[in-house]
Amino acid sequence: MSKLRIAFIGLGGIAKNAHLPALKGLGYKVDFCVDIDTGRVKEFTENVGCKGYADYREMLKNENPDVVLVATPHAFHAQIAVDALENGSHVYIEKPMALTVEEATKIVDVAHRKNRFIVVGHNGRFSYKNYTAAKIIHKGVVGKIYYARGFILRQRGIPPAPTFLKKELARGGAVYDIASHALDMLLYFIGYSKPVSVKGFTYRAFGERVDEFGGTYPQPPIPGLTSDVEDFGSAFISFDNGIAMYVEVSWAGYLKESKVEYVVLGDRGGVHVDNTNLYYISSAGKELFVGSHVGLNIHVDTYAEVWKKLLNAIEKNDEACLCPATTAEQGFINTAILESIYKSSMSGKEVELNIPDKIVEHAKNQLKCLVNE
Ligand SMILES: NC(=O)c1ccc[n+]([C@@H]2O[C@H](COP(=O)([O-])OP(=O)(O)OC[C@H]3O[C@@H](n4cnc5c(N)ncnc54)[C@H](O)[C@@H]3O)[C@@H](O)[C@H]2O)c1
Repeated sequence: MSKLRIAFIGLGGIAKNAHLPALKGLGYKVDFCVDIDTGRVKEFTENVGCKGYADYREMLKNENPDVVLVATPHAFHAQIAVDALENGSHVYIEKPMALTVEEATKIVDVAHRKNRFIVVGHNGRFSYKNYTAAKIIHKGVVGKIYYARGFILRQRGIPPAPTFLKKELARGGAVYDIASHALDMLLYFIGYSKPVSVKGFTYRAFGERVDEFGGTYPQPPIPGLTSDVEDFGSAFISFDNGIAMYVEVSWAGYLKESKVEYVVLGDRGGVHVDNTNLYYISSAGKELFVGSHVGLNIHVDTYAEVWKKLLNAIEKNDEACLCPATTAEQGFINTAILESIYKSSMSGKEVELNIPDKIVEHAKNQLKCLVNE
């Protein structure tokens, strides 16, 4: 279909089961594929017909792809993204975009210098429920927002793979893995106010019991796999305009139920998104009403939606086409908070954030499409 040449770096579960079908559905093929595991390269090249490599730098040098997907373990996201951008590719980075502000700064700088687009894999923004909630909020119907909270809580759901559990690959656990998603959703909902401080807490409770708490129960235990990283994280985040945000995530825990939930409170209304529904809470006169959305069961391939945004922005050479996918500036803010959660947890103290105003302004402006849709 299109002449854009696409490369995948990291050929694991998400590349194979989500990105590949998403692109196929859009009529695109994967031209180059890279993994340090040569068995995976062989399987991918045979199934997909792409040209395989074991070294991403060699692939970049030889092939100069137009677009690169980075779907490796977290520790390599930033370096690979920077190298791909330097080489002139546009980049889709799986979450989290980066692990430190230093890494995020490099990504934003090189993307600007090379005039290239980035999207980050927070595809959940595009579920019908979340997208609808974002549009409601951005139209201003909840009034002045003062609080937002997000939960991603699992009773048994430690990812049963070294990519997520080994410090040299993942650097951190549930916070980098799923608090990154929860934060992205809340920042998207509130429209990127400027975060100024973070008080965080992380805890590794089940690292030696992955066989008991791993994967989605019931599933066979993974013999001998242990985790080096935290399985619980929570954080309280303050913003310069007075908004407060609370995020709580767990891969596993003695919880009554597993759930995903987002709440945004304003002085004229509230929005509540949970596992199955989207509620809008408002008042008429002095009466309070809770309304639920009708017809939420519309299926969206959220990975395809993110790809559509990126490919469209490249083809039209227009950054506005990325909206409402997560951009480099938005990924920067997410990274700054994630890094501070770990720092705060280590020190036991609140951590101040110094995010440049131009990053926040850019992040905010990149959501303008929500008001008009
Ligand atoms: N958007 C989402 O909801 C979502 C869901 C799952 C995973 N992810 C993200 O996708 C990424 C990959 O996750 P996964 O589940 O596919 O993991 P995985 O372990 O299945 O695959 C990772 C692959 O990367 C390869 N790899 C490691 N280092 C490499 C390098 N330097 N160069 C090339 N390949 C390398 C590994 O050999 C492996 O095949 C992670 O960042 C994860 O957080 C996102």
